[in-house]
Amino acid sequence: MSLQQIFASRSLRMKASEIRELLKLLDRPGLLSFAGGIPDPALFPAAEFAQAFQQALTPEHQAQALQYSVSEGYMPLREWIQVEMARIGVPCEVDNILITSGSQQALDYLGKLFLSPGDTALVGWPTYLGALAAFNAYEPRYDQLNAGGNRTAGSYAQAAQTADSQVKFAYLSADFANPTGETLGLPQRQGLLDLVEDLDCALIEDGAYQALRYEGEPVAPILALEIQRRGSIEGCQTIYCGSFSKTLSPGLRVGWVVAAKPVIAQMVLMKQAADLHSATINQIAVHQVAEHCFDSHVAKLRRVYGARRDAMLQALQDFMPAGVNWTRPEGGMFVWLTLPYGQDGAELLARALESQNIAFVPGQAFYAEGGNANTLRLSFSVLPEAEIREGIRRLGILLREG
Ligand SMILES: Cc1ncc(COP(=O)(O)O)c(C=O)c1O
Repeated sequence: MSLQQIFASRSLRMKASEIRELLKLLDRPGLLSFAGGIPDPALFPAAEFAQAFQQALTPEHQAQALQYSVSEGYMPLREWIQVEMARIGVPCEVDNILITSGSQQALDYLGKLFLSPGDTALVGWPTYLGALAAFNAYEPRYDQLNAGGNRTAGSYAQAAQTADSQVKFAYLSADFANPTGETLGLPQRQGLLDLVEDLDCALIEDGAYQALRYEGEPVAPILALEIQRRGSIEGCQTIYCGSFSKTLSPGLRVGWVVAAKPVIAQMVLMKQAADLHSATINQIAVHQVAEHCFDSHVAKLRRVYGARRDAMLQALQDFMPAGVNWTRPEGGMFVWLTLPYGQDGAELLARALESQNIAFVPGQAFYAEGGNANTLRLSFSVLPEAEIREGIRRLGILLREG
């Protein structure tokens, strides 16, 4: 017999991600890739990490660094995050913070925590592909979260009820979203708080790109606004997921969740069951490096990525044919392109690789229910400005060929 026949139903909704498949192509010689939403490896604070790991492995520290540790996470790192969260407007206690293995693990746990099969998750159309992948395992029903739009809480609740379902959470990135690069203004954030209050559901705020702003003033995280309303994080419906992946290193897999204590307590139990704790030595090293150079390193990332964003926006303006529209992100790593209706991003990618040696991510995969094939995600984080310009010039040629 084939073991596939007895896989649990939850596994059937897990599909290979187009991005993962694409990442395999990134080492093709001469390829100009706008595909991976990854940090530029040339910018990793490698010397600082070398020092931090070396110190963690000295006789004085190795017993702790190589040992099992508590599920909640390395206390000095949680304290560092507590200070950082306060700085962005989220006062909380250390017990409101759980360290996770990247924010991706937090999304998995939140799916596990809230979603029984058939429950409704509200997500953007489009949204972060990895969030859909994490939630899919818990067999939800999706509905389109229309942040700032005119859909009422009643209409979401009604749609869920008709499907014999209940809305459990809304998921979104308020700053420089993956894949659109868009940021929500204050009124939209307040509107979302009203919505989740009316729906009695959670709001999962994904802050993966929050630190990477290149222009304009920061807008308070949704969790900060909810704390202002309620006076304390306890009782808040918003759950904030943070990450060191886009600022220090994705390979170390260190992220965090900030939420009311009962939510954290339940997630700690999940962490105990899943992996006991995130790698001790990685947490120690991230703490050491964050303490030493977080602000200066992030300032450098902002300068470099900001210039790349500018180069991409300028090149799009210079080389895109009429009928192509794109977003103008204030931060993050992505620009989102909408092609004239009828064009197909996946088909375009095949031709882009073949004739222009460029890559990007076709947009359809970012939609919970597919469709919207005439969209593309372009990342500007990895290539230097001249190559960004050249790649966009080639994309222009491809689009003109039709
Ligand atoms: C919006 C968003 N959330 C979460 C993640 C996961 O990041 P990590 O698990 O590395 O923290 C990513 C990674 O690309 C992302 O783009």
